[in-house]
Amino acid sequence: MKKISDLTDILNVISTSEMGAEVNEQYKTLLLSALSEEFNAWYFYLITKEFVVGDGYKDVRELFTETAEDELEDHAYWLIDRIKQLGYSVEQIAHPSSWASVAEHPFIKPSFEETNTICPKRVLEIAIQSELDAIATYTNLVEFTNAIKDSTSNLKLREILADEEEHLNKLRDLYNSIK
Ligand SMILES: [Fe+2]
Ligand SMILES: [Fe+2]
Repeated sequence: MKKISDLTDILNVISTSEMGAEVNEQYKTLLLSALSEEFNAWYFYLITKEFVVGDGYKDVRELFTETAEDELEDHAYWLIDRIKQLGYSVEQIAHPSSWASVAEHPFIKPSFEETNTICPKRVLEIAIQSELDAIATYTNLVEFTNAIKDSTSNLKLREILADEEEHLNKLRDLYNSIK
């Protein structure tokens, strides 16, 4: 007998066989790109928070810790689940070095000043840009899943889009509060 979770998986799968090869390829490309961007964002927040020094550094650390958690534990894990349910291969992004070429928006490398320090305002500028990129990514995915009538994905992607907008607002507020 099938477990409830298996049945939920079956109900959540739109018929990829009816979508046609070209649409499937486009969908897979968009999902793998979004997942690579989530891994990039998670890593960016994780690594930079350790080196921020200067006015507002504690608030930056706190916000980056909480944002990194959203990017990985909510957004990336949901994308992984959905990619599995749809039956797409993740082979293309199995190595971290592939994330740069698969992600539509680039990872912006933080610049270190002196020895291993990062300026709070400069790192916030990069984070703001990466959230703007994430908003573009999810706006596109929301439109795409609406067009192909994948309502399960569409619902969650709208939630993720709202999260990215919230990340952006919090980063901007913090940026404006620092001298
Ligand atoms: Fe995200
Ligand atoms: Fe984000």
